[in-house]
Amino acid sequence: MPFTEPNAAAHRSPRPGRPPATRRSRRRRLLLFIGAAFGVVLLATGTATVLALLGLIGAARVDTTGQVEFAQPLPVPPVAESHLDAEGRRVFDLSAQEGSTVFAPGAAPTDTWGVNGDYFGPTLRAERGEEVLVNVTNDLPETTTMHWHGMHLPAAMDGGPHSEIEPGQTWSPTWLIDQPAATLWYHPHTHGLTEEHVGRGLAGMFILDDEDAAELDLPSDYGVDDIPLIVQDRSFDDEGRVTTAAGFGPAGALGDELVVNGAVGPYLEVSTERVRLRVLNASAARTYAFTADDGRDLMLIGTDGGLLEAPVAQQEVMLSPGERAEIVVTMEPGEDVVLRSGPPELGVRAMQDRSSGGQDHFDVLELRAARDLTESPPLPDELVTIPRLEEADATAHRHFEMRSFEINGRSMDMNRVDFTATARTTEVWELRNTHGDPHNFHVHDVQFQVLDVDGDPPPPHLRGWKDTVYLPPDVPVRVIMQFGDYTDAAVPYMYHCHLLWHEDEGMMGQFVVLEDGARPVTELAGDHGRHHDDGDDGGHESAEHDHGGHDHVHHHDDAEQHHGGHGH
Ligand code: C2O
Ligand code: CU
Ligand code: CU
Repeated sequence: MPFTEPNAAAHRSPRPGRPPATRRSRRRRLLLFIGAAFGVVLLATGTATVLALLGLIGAARVDTTGQVEFAQPLPVPPVAESHLDAEGRRVFDLSAQEGSTVFAPGAAPTDTWGVNGDYFGPTLRAERGEEVLVNVTNDLPETTTMHWHGMHLPAAMDGGPHSEIEPGQTWSPTWLIDQPAATLWYHPHTHGLTEEHVGRGLAGMFILDDEDAAELDLPSDYGVDDIPLIVQDRSFDDEGRVTTAAGFGPAGALGDELVVNGAVGPYLEVSTERVRLRVLNASAARTYAFTADDGRDLMLIGTDGGLLEAPVAQQEVMLSPGERAEIVVTMEPGEDVVLRSGPPELGVRAMQDRSSGGQDHFDVLELRAARDLTESPPLPDELVTIPRLEEADATAHRHFEMRSFEINGRSMDMNRVDFTATARTTEVWELRNTHGDPHNFHVHDVQFQVLDVDGDPPPPHLRGWKDTVYLPPDVPVRVIMQFGDYTDAAVPYMYHCHLLWHEDEGMMGQFVVLEDGARPVTELAGDHGRHHDDGDDGGHESAEHDHGGHDHVHHHDDAEQHHGGHGH
């Protein structure tokens, strides 16, 4: 295992044993089996009709609260080694490779993929103002890609589906870190295969630091009081090997056990009064609503793209796939607190809710406070200043309708560029899920601010920088963003639903950023061959999605009025 334990000296012996997977009744196993079988049928036929039926059948409700043993210490991904090259760039060497992982004590190993190890990858860390160079070598038997989720960077460095890395090859993107301190992450973005590649274990954190964050008295001793938590749901067979997901519904495949940093049922020995958890939902389909088992406040200090202006006390922190939250938990000496996930408010109808994990409960991680806790400074009342993007500055308004596996009635096409944005301009996007099923929205290259949710100002937890936002059905969310200097007519950025099955099925589009006055790009030169294959999924062409192939772009002004003065 490549991971180190946070407090290796302070081992407790595991509590009296049970097999790795939590136990459940035979009836439940049977239900799960039926759910899985249904999933297989669905995958085999892949029609929208079957998908619609899913809402009526769905997966069994899952509840692991009180059943998890917490029998292994939380593994903490190591910080990636790096060195400075002759040009002063921070260089990381990553290798995507095959491995084998034991997810719970006594479990049989599962064949997995990892980065510089067996499962997941090391935590990359860089400071604002630094140039980084990452050598990504593909030591896997198949083509993959590596995307820097949440990063502002040139499209050619972004690691989207066009930046394939063949087996045996090394891809070496380089860029300047120029955005606030944040918890970002990396994962493959291989066309049609993201769910599979992430699910096998290719993911890791990319933490950015800056002076503003360093000046704050926040827990920041990595592995001691600053802990990454990469959360996924999985299903295991009786020997504890990863197996086909137990549930399947409109959101995609749902596991019935939680895995944190590659471990089922982990505990964390806490040695300080306050601990900061950097939580990443790296699951394919499942949305979480994290709580403490005694209902204590979780202090939310950061979201996808950086710190909030002030900590927000939350009883519950909801994260849909791809989203991150930085949470500070305050502990009393000697106490145990279980981080749980309760039913997330997906906002979908009851039947879809159940089969999308909207009624599931999990035990996630046990925090075990030492008898003597090192005192932590109080949480600052104020964190950082977030410059507000102004709607009045927007030079383009766009609408994105999420429905079925399409955005604005279109399925992903590797050759088509859906729109062209202008460097250094501000845009307002209205995001709308007009479908009864859960979706979210993620955009590459920029962090955005939420302007309003259903016409109302965003709740406090949505007032920071975001790159991914959950979209309940029929609740319009308007976001505002500013594009930077990077332009490229040949390599697009992606926007998509981050539910990985949806994304793989084509719920994605592409855009380029060009200088003001440049001719918009609608198609990429050359053959980007790996079109999404709609051949066997009739849902894409069905009559209910006849609201046109256009993307509802309304430019509010033209070149004369552009706002070239923002940005760097
Ligand atoms: Cu986290 Cu386009 O991806
Ligand atoms: Cu991304
Ligand atoms: Cu979706």
